[in-house]
Amino acid sequence: MFENTTDAYLSTVARALDGTIYEDPPILFGDTKPGYDATNREYGWDWPSVSFTMVGTKRLANVRFTLETAIRENIPGDFVETGVWRGGASIFARAVLFAHEQTDRRVVLCDSFDGLPAPDEEKYPHDKGSDFHTYDALAVSVDVVKRNFEKFNLLDDQVVFIEGLFKDTMKDVTSEKIAVLRLDGDMYESTIDPLRHLFPKVSNNGWVIVDDYHVVPAAKAAVHDYLDEIGYEDPDFQEIDGVGVYFRKNTRKIPNKSLWKRVTSRT
Ligand SMILES: C[S@@+](CC[C@H](N)C(=O)[O-])C[C@H]1O[C@@H](n2cnc3c(N)ncnc32)[C@H](O)[C@@H]1O
Repeated sequence: MFENTTDAYLSTVARALDGTIYEDPPILFGDTKPGYDATNREYGWDWPSVSFTMVGTKRLANVRFTLETAIRENIPGDFVETGVWRGGASIFARAVLFAHEQTDRRVVLCDSFDGLPAPDEEKYPHDKGSDFHTYDALAVSVDVVKRNFEKFNLLDDQVVFIEGLFKDTMKDVTSEKIAVLRLDGDMYESTIDPLRHLFPKVSNNGWVIVDDYHVVPAAKAAVHDYLDEIGYEDPDFQEIDGVGVYFRKNTRKIPNKSLWKRVTSRT
């Protein structure tokens, strides 16, 4: 049984979004086996043919956990997802805000709404060989995503769509503060561009989720390169499901450059 009506609503929305209610089969490619597989869906190992998210049950629960923590602890800011596909994880974030009567936080969806870019191997050697741009199934238009929100009656002015490649659009994210940043771009370029623009806006104690940390080595490399770039010490990554990780931003782990300059200029 559910704990209360909030839990009943959110648990049911989650099950509708990840397809565990309807058990839709996966999209077939590579060595994907036909037919619905409960374990694959729990861990987000398949690409559902109908359901609105491919992150699976555990990573969807992590969206709820991080947002509810931010709400409970008054950590200011929006939920921003870079890489939304059919919109499921962001729809769930909007449902969490609705369930907790949060009217001053927005859900910001950033995507080309046309699939991934071809790798820029010269600029980002880690993306060499990436072929996600060849998968038509990853290109979902903004109209389809808006319709998916409407099906849950969750499309309103707290939902913002930023359309285009991250390299062009990250500057258009107007959120002053971010409580939860969810990175799901599957490439080095698609992870480091959002980090460079958006990590500075993540509130102290806000969350950063890296959806594809353990399955896309280029995304993992981008996270570590960015954190090294800003001198962030000891990020305490927590495991979600063996695929994704998340960590809390702690501003004390970022060296204070102006202080550092003052100290070194005295010596
Ligand atoms: C794995 S899917 C996201 C899955 C989604 N979070 C879910 O809930 O199912 C990756 C998405 O990232 C988008 N994407 C990847 N790199 C991008 C880039 N550089 N600019 C814009 N969109 C990008 C793709 O269009 C695609 O929709």
